[in-house]
Amino acid sequence: MASLILASNRLPIRILTDGSFERTTGGLASAIEGSGLDGKYTWVGWGGSCSEIGRSKSELKSSLRELGVEPVLLSEENISGYYDGYSNSTLWPLLHYMQDRARFKPEWIECYRSVNAQFADTIAEIASPNAHVWIHDYHLMLLPQLLREIRPDIKIGFFLHTPFPSSEIFRALPERDELLKGLLGCDLIGFHTYNYLRHFISSLIRILGVEADMDGLWQKKRHIQLGVYPIGHNSDGFQTAAKSENFVKMHSEHAKHLGAGKLILSVERLDYTKGLPQKLTAIRQFLHEHPEQRGLVHFVLVAVPSRRGVEEYDSLTAQVQCEVGAINGDYGDVGHSPVQFLHRSFQVDELAALYSLADICMVTPIVDGMNLVAKEFIDCKRASHRARPGVLILSEFAGAANEMSHALLVNPHDTAGVVKAINEALQMDEVDMWKRVHAMQNRLKLNDAGAWAKRYLSDLQKNTSCNHKGTIHA
Ligand code: UDP
Ligand code: G6P
Repeated sequence: MASLILASNRLPIRILTDGSFERTTGGLASAIEGSGLDGKYTWVGWGGSCSEIGRSKSELKSSLRELGVEPVLLSEENISGYYDGYSNSTLWPLLHYMQDRARFKPEWIECYRSVNAQFADTIAEIASPNAHVWIHDYHLMLLPQLLREIRPDIKIGFFLHTPFPSSEIFRALPERDELLKGLLGCDLIGFHTYNYLRHFISSLIRILGVEADMDGLWQKKRHIQLGVYPIGHNSDGFQTAAKSENFVKMHSEHAKHLGAGKLILSVERLDYTKGLPQKLTAIRQFLHEHPEQRGLVHFVLVAVPSRRGVEEYDSLTAQVQCEVGAINGDYGDVGHSPVQFLHRSFQVDELAALYSLADICMVTPIVDGMNLVAKEFIDCKRASHRARPGVLILSEFAGAANEMSHALLVNPHDTAGVVKAINEALQMDEVDMWKRVHAMQNRLKLNDAGAWAKRYLSDLQKNTSCNHKGTIHA
């Protein structure tokens, strides 16, 4: 039996066809990995597709249990309707203000309901009396209420890793009431920023007609606390990685390759919220306006494949590949392609080497709940990691912009503004660069992933008002 349970769609590891496993990518998994709660909780999540890796359900279940996680195994039909469909083709675009990309199919919500119920059954079975359950993200918005119905003794928290949009957007969702009521099964609901919390409260008032303020609301004599918990990055993980042999090797190889050239880095999942086409437009414009820089700058775009099989993602990949080829054709030369598109996932030590060397990191999403890459880049700028100084170009539409005002803040739709920021970053003197980096580092060290998790769980535990009596053994 478990006294602390984390639940999310994505587990931190994935089994591969050859039986080995790999770490999964994304802010949720990397922050929890750095939360310092190692081994003190049971992580419940989707175990992957049996048919994809050629294993029976029981084989897959026991392999994942051996790795210390509790898998929920889903049918192919449910994966398609719940993950590709409702979570990533309806909710994800809507939560990111992209109403025109959101698609609505009645059969998807059926799968979403059924998967949320499956999570509730799995958790109810393994949770000890008065356990604490911390649910993560938009895939599981019905789970709090479903779980409360089966196990009223459990204390339930939910954290949303995406933005919560204006109620004018959220109300477009046919199942808006059901999802809000699902969340009200919680004792504590957390968001990255005050704006997201403010929007959530407006939705509660306008859609459900319930009274709520920044601290929370009362429902049937139960207090539901609301709060802002900006997520932090896995600082210890990056500091440890920067001491590894592989980091040293990668660092010197890349430094040799770069020579006197400048590295302009970007790191993200290949997702339309991240603004890759807009970034490529700015890169093209920069190369056009600055022929003197063409042989000197290396734009390295790490774009991790994401949500393959979801139509919007497949077409974006093709669009980006095509534009990278076109820019290199127009502005490249023998022995030099200005844009390198690296369409794969990198390990932490490799990323740390790139962050440490990069002269500029371009984090320019159209909308992003937080964005941990911005924080990781700044954290890796340490003399002890042989770091060169660097400048962060950051979209004002990333949650991280609230905490990183010493970055060059840009509007990713404003091509001229982004080009100007690249230029300004290339011209900035080193003293100014370090001053900005240190100001951001001072703020980040107060709130890394460990501090974030501790603050959230401590509030969850404190919210005993008249709800529960349990304690977290973390
Ligand atoms: N990441 C990684 N390998 C890569 C690219 C990214 O491990 O090749 C990690 C990165 O270090 C960061 C996370 O993926 O911790 C991305 O989180 P972010 O909040 O920036 O965006 P999300 O993917 O959650 O939307
Ligand atoms: C974002 C979401 C996470 C998700 C991650 C990767 O960070 O908030 O819930 O795990 O993207 O996406 P994926 O669909 O591969 O899990």
